[in-house]
Amino acid sequence: MAPTHGTHPVLVASNRGPVSYTKDESGELTAKRGGGGLVSGLSAIGPDAGALWVCSALGDGDREAVRRGVSEDGVRMLDIDADTHAAAYNGIANSALWFVHHMLYQTPLEPVFDAGFRRQWAAYETYNQAFAEALAEEAADGAAVLVQDYHLTLVPRMLRELRPDLRIGHFSHTPWAPADYFRLLPDDIAAKVLHGILGADRAAFLTRRWADAFTDCCRAVLGDDFDPDTRIGVHGLGADADFLRERSHREDVDERMAALREQIGTAPDGSARKTIVRVDRTELSKNIVRGLLAYRELLEDRPEWRERVVHVAFAYPSRQDLAVYRDYTAEVQRVADEINSAYGTDGWTPVVLHVKDDFARSLAAYRLADVALVNPIRDGMNLVAKEVPVVSDDGCVLVLSREAGAYEELGDDSVVVNPYDVSGTAEALHEALLVPAGERAERTKRLAAAATALPPAQWFLDQLQAVRSAGAGG
Ligand code: G6P
Repeated sequence: MAPTHGTHPVLVASNRGPVSYTKDESGELTAKRGGGGLVSGLSAIGPDAGALWVCSALGDGDREAVRRGVSEDGVRMLDIDADTHAAAYNGIANSALWFVHHMLYQTPLEPVFDAGFRRQWAAYETYNQAFAEALAEEAADGAAVLVQDYHLTLVPRMLRELRPDLRIGHFSHTPWAPADYFRLLPDDIAAKVLHGILGADRAAFLTRRWADAFTDCCRAVLGDDFDPDTRIGVHGLGADADFLRERSHREDVDERMAALREQIGTAPDGSARKTIVRVDRTELSKNIVRGLLAYRELLEDRPEWRERVVHVAFAYPSRQDLAVYRDYTAEVQRVADEINSAYGTDGWTPVVLHVKDDFARSLAAYRLADVALVNPIRDGMNLVAKEVPVVSDDGCVLVLSREAGAYEELGDDSVVVNPYDVSGTAEALHEALLVPAGERAERTKRLAAAATALPPAQWFLDQLQAVRSAGAGG
């Protein structure tokens, strides 16, 4: 008897899905839909097209929703055993793989791949297998399955074994490590990650640089086993201009702009203070502390800026289950406080730091930024760099790390920095603050055009089309 397949012609799989549930005191579940490129991209194929998003249940609310059978149309949450999920997500995905691709290890203490790591790896395999099985069950004959990111590197190979009829794509939203760095991973694990992704018909990346690094790793680690049939693609996700322009002119954003202006204040001569804005998850790779140190150097070496500039830094807590992230969050706060007590005056707070996630306030900061600081150590793309020029009211100068994926498209119109070079970044901030208004507006226009070249809907459709026409050997 032929196996019974599912009904969905298009499937997306990712750890974090488009919706999350919270449970209030009375036990009532509330669904909250998230944003991001993938969410708006997927909406391009329309709610009735039978697409299904398979994701993990992440918190208690999500798990409760799965248990009660509460779900949103087009979403299937997997209630993977909490310990298994934690080991796979915190241990392998967010520690080992994230650290390798963002080159975050600090020798001599890291990395250590010991028995504990091996147990986490076993959990990562179980977690990937759960996704592969759910996808195999839900996919219609010949369906296209788009698997997302470093959480799910083993899924393409596992799924191909279960369902050879499917068209499978894998997309990496992170950078990809250079081969020498990737080979810090134990040889067998490095090979499994690559082999897993190569189970897809197509492996895609945000920039050519990350795609080339992946191919280098395959050659270095797999040698003769490298399967050149897997098509490698590049899709540089752009900002969603229509959504951003509309959303950033709503009343809540105007209110937050007024509140921010109040906090920023005016210079002693009555002129408006300049603003250097950054908006990030509090993430080691975002390099927030070095950004603060560069700002401190600017104030120290160029006292003419004191009282005339404010660094508006939004650093939203992330991955707080990991001690190193909690420490980093505390360090960001400590350095910001230190700058404020060293340089602040009665009427001037040099660093305005906000840690409570507030999208409307982020948009308000984008609109009023004179300079946007985007200085990651490494970043798959960095959408903040792309969103600011789209939303900016009067033009904004982008200080951009050459290690962000966005550099490939935006580097020509930015002030480019080496993210480790604190003094160089201080100089770049100075230079950016001095760009005359006319030139600033011109640059911002060009940045916005480049930033929106591939809107999320088209980004998603391009991948779908490419995966459909890239069947292995076809
Ligand atoms: C990165 C990853 C995404 C992830 C996001 C937030 O951008 O590429 O896959 O969703 O970080 O991380 P979190 O661990 O909070 O899901």
